[in-house]
Amino acid sequence: MKEKIEVLRQKFQSQMAEVSDDSRLEELRLSFMSKKGAIQDLMKELSQIPNDQKKEAGQLINAFKQEVQSKFDEKKVEIAALAEKLLLDATESYDESMPSACPTGSYHPITLIQRELEDIFESMGFDVEDYNEIVDDYHCFEALNIPKFHPARDMQDTYYLSTPNQLLKSHTSAAQNHIMKKYGPKLKESGRPIRAVFPGRCFRNEAIDACHENTFFQMEGVMIDKDISISNLIYFMKTMLSEVFEKDVTVRLRPGFFPFVEPGFELDIQCLICGGDGCPSCKNSGWLELCPCGMIHPNVLKHGGINTEENPFEYTGFAFGLGLTRLAMMKYGVKDIRVFNEGDINALSQFTSK
Ligand code: PHE
Repeated sequence: MKEKIEVLRQKFQSQMAEVSDDSRLEELRLSFMSKKGAIQDLMKELSQIPNDQKKEAGQLINAFKQEVQSKFDEKKVEIAALAEKLLLDATESYDESMPSACPTGSYHPITLIQRELEDIFESMGFDVEDYNEIVDDYHCFEALNIPKFHPARDMQDTYYLSTPNQLLKSHTSAAQNHIMKKYGPKLKESGRPIRAVFPGRCFRNEAIDACHENTFFQMEGVMIDKDISISNLIYFMKTMLSEVFEKDVTVRLRPGFFPFVEPGFELDIQCLICGGDGCPSCKNSGWLELCPCGMIHPNVLKHGGINTEENPFEYTGFAFGLGLTRLAMMKYGVKDIRVFNEGDINALSQFTSK
């Protein structure tokens, strides 16, 4: 048996040396390993071998079988590697030690400013919330004390879906009711003040020019607790804006009308370019209008389940709406709002955070 195996081994080795592709390899494998193959023939011969030699012969055949199998496995890997190499050579030369020439991406300027603001507000204990772009009339208007046919709706004309009562939100204030309902129970049970900011994409029916877009970004913020006053509002706004512009900013409040705040304000900052003396950027006024805000209207707090009919002034709060798009224009000196939505990679990849 030993001699027979040796002869077969020689034959196998010489045939294997010639094999260079998968189909030839399979042919050879069948001629050795299949039911009609050479190794099976050896097995058959076992029956004619004297009993006392059977065990040893059987072991020899098994060892040979394993040897052949592992040679097939090795060859298979070898053929695959060779095929890959041939393919690479044929397409292009490939040097894995070369540095990658792939350009890295960059963040959109609005994303940069949004993240910066989120960090600042988080450091002041605010939660960052997300909200839908498609909302209903109740959340966008009714819950904000803007009844049907109220003239304030004119300024916020937006896009209505064919599904009844569905529209694209015209301001981030549309999330106020949701935030109040989400955090109201904790405020009442454990006295944890509601402090949340919620950035979002907003839509309005606008004629587009360098200063107007039908799609823009805002970041809304609310703080609700017992005894919240206008001084709290001014403190948070001033701190946040000083961090964004990396210098101490001077702010002032002017009266402003929004049905969901009472009193309502326009918060201006002293012009950062001329320091208040007057220049073309601030239209010679020395001030820039930046952030509408005010004390949340009692009706809005009631809609949000914060105050009750019996105790309508138990909690108070402030709200503000920051124009993220506007802020990005000011911070990065972008003169045309359309740059943000045009998707021009050359324009959009120039911005970096501080
Ligand atoms: N939602 C208002 C707007 O987009 C801004 C605002 C927010 C005003 C919060 C007051 C308080 O015009």
